[in-house]
Amino acid sequence: MRARPERPRDPGFRVTPGGSVKAEGLGDGSTACGGGHRQAALDAATRQNPQFQVLLDRIYAAVLPEVADLETVLNTTDPQQLELLFAFADEVRRRFVGDGVLLRGIVEFSNICRNTCWYCGLHRGNRALPRYRLTKTQILAAAGNVHAAGIKTVVLQSGEEDNLDADELRAVIEEIKSSLEMAVTLCVGERSRAEYRFWREAGADRYLLKIETSDPELYRRLHPGMSWENRTRCLRDLAELGYQTGSGNLVGLPGQTLRHLAGDIQFFRQGDFDMISVSPFIPHPQTPLAEAPAGDLLLTLKMTALARIVSRNAHVPATTAIGSLHGRDERPRALAAGANVIMPNFTPAPYRQQYEIYPNKRCVSDDARACPPCIERMVEALGRRVDYSRGDRMKME
Ligand code: 5AD
Ligand code: FES
Repeated sequence: MRARPERPRDPGFRVTPGGSVKAEGLGDGSTACGGGHRQAALDAATRQNPQFQVLLDRIYAAVLPEVADLETVLNTTDPQQLELLFAFADEVRRRFVGDGVLLRGIVEFSNICRNTCWYCGLHRGNRALPRYRLTKTQILAAAGNVHAAGIKTVVLQSGEEDNLDADELRAVIEEIKSSLEMAVTLCVGERSRAEYRFWREAGADRYLLKIETSDPELYRRLHPGMSWENRTRCLRDLAELGYQTGSGNLVGLPGQTLRHLAGDIQFFRQGDFDMISVSPFIPHPQTPLAEAPAGDLLLTLKMTALARIVSRNAHVPATTAIGSLHGRDERPRALAAGANVIMPNFTPAPYRQQYEIYPNKRCVSDDARACPPCIERMVEALGRRVDYSRGDRMKME
């Protein structure tokens, strides 16, 4: 995607004489999670797994990490190695994006979709799903609620509508930019370069388009009628047009191997994305993958950690899907494994339930205003704080 400068080879982390993962130059001897107990465990883990520590350093320093190295990390179930991985990612996160957890308010303004992605509950063949599209007034009211919660980014998300009215979306963007002064992130799928330019000129700041899987063959199998080449064309166009561009993947797709996931990490590294979102696949009963097993939480956390390690200063969400898998909110574990963003949902009832990309999405029955205080409690329990700034691109121009 974007041309990127060579990276310094020095990882900037050292295994200290005491054996701990320690960032140089912080001066306070502080470590990933603090606490003497945790530190002693990390020291022991480092002493007993010197090769694994070298492996993490190598992945961090590499211009393009080796598939074999990434697979080794994705394969491990050793508790000490996992501890080292998450501590390393947490330290990279702390060093490059700090302790703040950024909030992005999502408004899912339409669930109409022309595509037939095999994993997604919004696919056009799902006749059981009532379809909706919010009016301009409704979208602006929801964006106003995001603003009133003190959040400075609104994500306007929809299915990939055939009849998306580019002028109307432009009018929404302009209105939000002029009256609310928030960052606007679009997530409306594959579009022409002309449309991307049109919305960028209206003031849209950012765009999310997950690659879902970086493997063209697996991509082809799961996305009938779509093309991997067009998706990567979109990502290139978006970056060239000056959008802060986000991508991401799904973990645990049927047919997906660790080799594919290693390729996803390489894709993230090469794409130099401003945002990277890693979600577990959650089967939806109204899809061809209804009977497939859900993605594995631990594997998703390992992918989150690796995304952090290779991207350094990208914004990495603790995804809603991580918070929804198996009905438990595991987002704190993602926040402790490299993530620095949470995306509360501001889609108004009753539509929120109808944006059902997967079942049992968390917070669908809550009042949107309940999420920010709940997230504050979650974040503070980790010794971090919610950061109410816009959270713009941190990549170098
Ligand atoms: N499980 C988890 N995430 C899903 N998405 C779509 N379907 C599912 C599912 N079954 C995600 C895709 C898409 C985003 C809008 O929702 O990654 O990019
Ligand atoms: Fe939505 Fe906790 S984040 S209620």
